[in-house]
Amino acid sequence: EAIEKGGYDHFMIKEIFEQPKSVADCLRGRLNAKNGHLHLGGIHDYANKIVNADRIVILACGTSWHAGLVAEYIFEEFCRISVEVEYASEFRYRNPIIGENDVVIAISQSGETADTLAAIDLAKSKGATIFGVCNVVGSSIPRVTHAGSYTHAGPEIGVASTKAFTAQISVLTMMALMIAQKKGTLSESAYRSLLVELETIPEKIAKCLDLNPQIEIISAKFKDAANFLYLGRGYNFPVALEGALKLKEISYIHAEGYPAAEMKHGPIALIDENMPVVFIGTKDSSYEKIVSNIQEVKARKGEVIAIVTEGDTDIAEIADHIIEVPHTHEALMPLVSVIPLQLLSYHIAVMRGCNVDQPRNLAKSVTVE
Ligand code: G6P
Repeated sequence: EAIEKGGYDHFMIKEIFEQPKSVADCLRGRLNAKNGHLHLGGIHDYANKIVNADRIVILACGTSWHAGLVAEYIFEEFCRISVEVEYASEFRYRNPIIGENDVVIAISQSGETADTLAAIDLAKSKGATIFGVCNVVGSSIPRVTHAGSYTHAGPEIGVASTKAFTAQISVLTMMALMIAQKKGTLSESAYRSLLVELETIPEKIAKCLDLNPQIEIISAKFKDAANFLYLGRGYNFPVALEGALKLKEISYIHAEGYPAAEMKHGPIALIDENMPVVFIGTKDSSYEKIVSNIQEVKARKGEVIAIVTEGDTDIAEIADHIIEVPHTHEALMPLVSVIPLQLLSYHIAVMRGCNVDQPRNLAKSVTVE
C-alpha cells in the first residue's frame, strides 16, 4: 500500500496532487487549442441530440452532483439550453416529466451508484437519450448509456472524491464547448479563447498546489472549529458546496455551503467570532457583490478565509486569511478554486486524527439504495 501511495501519507493527498496530470490526461487527444480542435469521440454520433434538445437533465449524487451544477452554468451560458440538475435518488421517486426531446447526462465516478443507475433506467424508459460521464472504464453506467465520455482521471481510491471532480468538469466543459460551436451560440473568438484557457488549467492547478504549505498553516488555526460556512456566487457556488462536503466527509466538522447572497436569509444568524467563513471570491462578474458579503460577515465578527485571484487587494484588506489562486475565465474557475478547499479539508482532517481515506460511515461507491 505504501508503494501505491507513491510516497504520500494518504491516497487523498496523492490524488489531489495528481490533478495537473489527471486533467491533462482528460484533455489529451481531445483538445488542441492551437488549431481549434475539440473532439469527444464517445459523443460525436449523438451530439446532434444535445444540439436539438429542449432540455438537459443532469443526474448524479454527491460530488458528481456538484460537478453537474457547474455544468448547468456552463451549458446554459454557452449553449443556451435549459438544464436541470437532479439528485438521482429524488428524480426516480417523483414521476418526473421527461421524454424523447430531453437529453440526460449521468455523472458518476464509479459508474456503479445504484440511485444513478436506476434514474437512468427510468429516463431511458421514457425515451430520453442518455449520456454518461464516468471514470471507471467498463462499469455499469457506461454500459447502459447511449453515448458518453470517460474522464480518464485514473483510479481514485480515497473515498472523498477529488481528481474525479476536476476531470468531470473538464469533460463537461469540453462537451458544452463542442455543442456551443455546433449550435453557433458562442462566437469563434470566445470559443477559441476558452480552448486556450482550458489547456492552461493543469498548470494553474499546479500553481494552486504550491499553496499547500500556506494552507497547512491556515488549517492548524481552524482545526478545532465546530462549524464552517462556505459561500460563493455564480460558478463558485457549486465550489462552496463541494468545499463544505469535503470538510464534513473527512473531518466530521459540520459545514454548510450556500450561495453567498442567500446568507441573509438564514446562515447570517449563525455568524459570530466562532464561525469561520470560507469565501470563494475570485475576480468575476459577481466580485463586487462578494466583497459586500464579506463585509457583512466581518461586521458580525466572523473569521474570513477567502480564496481570491492573484493580486487581489480589496478582499485582502478585509479578510483574515487570503489564499491567492491564478486567474482564469470565470467558467473555468471551479477547476482552480476547488483545489485549496480540497487541501484545507485534508489538512484539517489529518490534524484531527481522522481516517482521511476511509471516513466513517461512507463508501467509495454506493451500490445500494
Ligand atoms: C459516494 C462517494 C462520493 C461520491 C458519490 C457519488 O457518496 O463517497 O465521493 O461523490 O458516492 O459517486 P459516483 O461514483 O456516482 O460519482
